[in-house]
Amino acid sequence: MCGIVGYLGPAKAAPVLLSELRCLEYRGYDSAGVAIIQDGELSVLKAAGKLNNLEKLITDNKPTATVGIGHTRWATHGVPNDQNAHPHLDASKTIAVVHNGIIENYEELKDELIKDGYAFESDTDTEVIAHLISKVYETEKDMLKAIFKTVGLLRGAYALGVVSQKHPDKIYAINQHYSLSVGLGNNESFLASDSMAVRQYTNKVVRLEQSEIAEITKEGVRLFAFDGKEVKRRPMSLDSNPYVIDKGGYKHFLLKEIHEQPLVLRQTLAKYLVHPTKPVSFIPHITPNSNGAATNNEEENQLSKSYGVHLTEMELKGIDRIQVVACGTAYHASLVGKLIIEQLCNLPVSVDIASEIRGRRLMVNESSLTIAVSQSGETADTLAALEEAKKLGSFTLGITNRPDSHLSQITPNLIVTECGIEVSVAATKTYLAQLTSFYLLGIYLAEARGAITTEHARKLKSDLNAIPTLLEQILAKENEIRLASLKYADAHDVVFIGRGFNYPTALEGALKLKELSYIHASGYAAGELKHGPIAVLDSKVPVVTVLVPGVVYEKTLSNAQEARARNAQMIAVAVEGDEQAARTFDTVLSIPAVDEFFSPLLTVVPMQLMSYFIADYLGKDVDQPRNLAKSVTVE
Ligand code: G6P
Repeated sequence: MCGIVGYLGPAKAAPVLLSELRCLEYRGYDSAGVAIIQDGELSVLKAAGKLNNLEKLITDNKPTATVGIGHTRWATHGVPNDQNAHPHLDASKTIAVVHNGIIENYEELKDELIKDGYAFESDTDTEVIAHLISKVYETEKDMLKAIFKTVGLLRGAYALGVVSQKHPDKIYAINQHYSLSVGLGNNESFLASDSMAVRQYTNKVVRLEQSEIAEITKEGVRLFAFDGKEVKRRPMSLDSNPYVIDKGGYKHFLLKEIHEQPLVLRQTLAKYLVHPTKPVSFIPHITPNSNGAATNNEEENQLSKSYGVHLTEMELKGIDRIQVVACGTAYHASLVGKLIIEQLCNLPVSVDIASEIRGRRLMVNESSLTIAVSQSGETADTLAALEEAKKLGSFTLGITNRPDSHLSQITPNLIVTECGIEVSVAATKTYLAQLTSFYLLGIYLAEARGAITTEHARKLKSDLNAIPTLLEQILAKENEIRLASLKYADAHDVVFIGRGFNYPTALEGALKLKELSYIHASGYAAGELKHGPIAVLDSKVPVVTVLVPGVVYEKTLSNAQEARARNAQMIAVAVEGDEQAARTFDTVLSIPAVDEFFSPLLTVVPMQLMSYFIADYLGKDVDQPRNLAKSVTVE
């Protein structure tokens, strides 16, 4: 959460900082600001609200400075207003700090600074850092020493960008349990929380590891550990194709990303499933170079080497328990993953919300596999849970859309989903790709452990290959889904129910509607409806039931009947031609016939579209819903 950027070079800094910030807006959009050194003086431009407000300030002021840092904020300490927007300054207004994360002992530090006569202008925890650096600098007269001493006083997980008017040829970056990358160009350097933001300028990047400080100049970067020792690290090459971020003719990124799902599935399947007769293979992925050919350059392949699953057959056979950790939408994908793996491999799988692992005994050991699922690969709680599992000796595996993320650094085994960047804050295509990864992983484990026959594996792979075409059939009915959905746009509460493989779909459907439209929605296991939630039902409450032929069909239908008996407005996601559904529900959002086992890959799509159309109709900011951020790096 929160995005940090920086620039030093021959170009005007403000437009570069803005373009970097555009790439990081997914990390928060409560306010944005830059600190630049203009004619030897530090000056700050910052504004509450979206980046456009800062852009206007920059356009009006036309700064010509060639060095600066910037920030986009997701508020933690202090409301999102101009005053609390970053950068924050020290008392002499010569040092500026941008900050991502939380300083846990900031109140203590602030009290001491106040006793020493320092005055505070904001409610943030960040401002203490600016004052502390400045205070130490007064005696040390050396920025690096001031930073070393300051980080020794801070508790928490954080990343910082710092500039000082006394050192206009340098930017300092500090990383403590977060992500920061320095991009190296030709006589210019960049700083960003996410390497994606510098990729538009250079593909040569040095990542800061934990407890490291970078001193950045136009010519390059020097790295130091918090104990002051210099660290040598060669730059790595990112994929040379910068991400193209455009709406492709769609009104919103969200709608575009929903429509990309058949392609995303095809790409993920193509990468790991060569042919139904061949075993699923998570071989290391080799990044093609700019000519499209695989490269033998060791440096260029540094990133790609960490891809893939590197567990031996013996290790795969020896696993007796799987623990999955994830947050948000990734947690819902993991709940489906549990059912897939349990069914195919006869292995016990537990799924936990990663933040719930804190302070708890994690039940893993040397014969467990712990899987962290995270679209961004940066979610603090998910990373912490995986680190905890590692300490206990568990094998680890990550499923992510970002091979350059922190997650890829902390596990040797990585399944990369082939989604391209997901711009919309609410996850859609990455959810489907995470589900696909779990289907592939389930088959992979089952094949390696001899838990399924060759014939069964072949059938599963063929069925999986057919899914993208079925998805296209749902998307072709988008207008029908739009008209049906808008009938429910005035609802205040919506209930989603499903069983078995589609209980997680009900949770995800409710989450999408909440995130996008701000309508209160809850997902329940259909069998739980009668144990409490049914009390909220009346004729004003729509109930969305996921109803797919299979072992839980009849029981789910009975649960829906219970809702109908309370006069609820009845909506179903059901397969085409389901006559019982047509009789029971006021509205049926239909999907093509599909095996219950694979149905979560289809059933969620009408729900994504329904949430999108309702939110758009209500005039909500569907790509950047209020209060949310795409990458949640606070705990
Ligand atoms: C945030 C996003 C969600 C996402 C969750 C987990 O809350 O808004 O869409 O599901 O983080 O993110 P991750 O990157 O770990 O999948």
